[in-house]
Amino acid sequence: MQATAVRRILPWGLAAWFTAVPYAATAEGQPEDIIKYRQNVMKSIGGHTSASAAIISGKVGYKAHLSEHAKAIAAMTKDIPGLFPKDSDFGDTNALESVWKKRADFEKAASNARAKAEAFAKAAAGNDPKAAGAAFKDLGEACKACHKDFRKEEK
Ligand code: HEC
Repeated sequence: MQATAVRRILPWGLAAWFTAVPYAATAEGQPEDIIKYRQNVMKSIGGHTSASAAIISGKVGYKAHLSEHAKAIAAMTKDIPGLFPKDSDFGDTNALESVWKKRADFEKAASNARAKAEAFAKAAAGNDPKAAGAAFKDLGEACKACHKDFRKEEK
């Protein structure tokens, strides 16, 4: 009888406590929704990057798409720090605590990637894979540099 009462009370008690805690919501949304959103944005950046790699390496011939992929990457890397607001550091995320603890370094890595993405967009404007190759490689290094310091290793 007592156990049932506890089972009945506990979920409600917890739910009330969670809704009472003010950290749960920011202007951008609930933390778990922000985490999912930023992972989707990163995935889209990753998709355009892989697609660009396939064009630049000559695996596929969609040269006319190259400038569009590059522009999309430049657009989506404009505000990476904005995807990592305070209090979106728990739950189902591969972001390391260093994103928030070493914020200045994180923002530096983000602005470096943004600069490299803009340079790639410029180099790819003529849809010439050869002309865009070097800038694309630089961009890849910028992604890797941030992941190395701020993202959990892939399992
Ligand atoms: C300033 C840091 C930073 C830069 C620059 C950056 N990323 Fe990320 N990226 C992250 C972090 C942190 C995560 C983990 C996010 C999470 O799980 O909440 C991530 C996650 C990802 C993911 C996995 C998304 C998922 O969960 O499925 C992909 C793919 C990705 N990034 C691709 C890229 C590519 C490609 C670039 C360069 C064009 C790039 N990233 C640039 C920090 C960065």
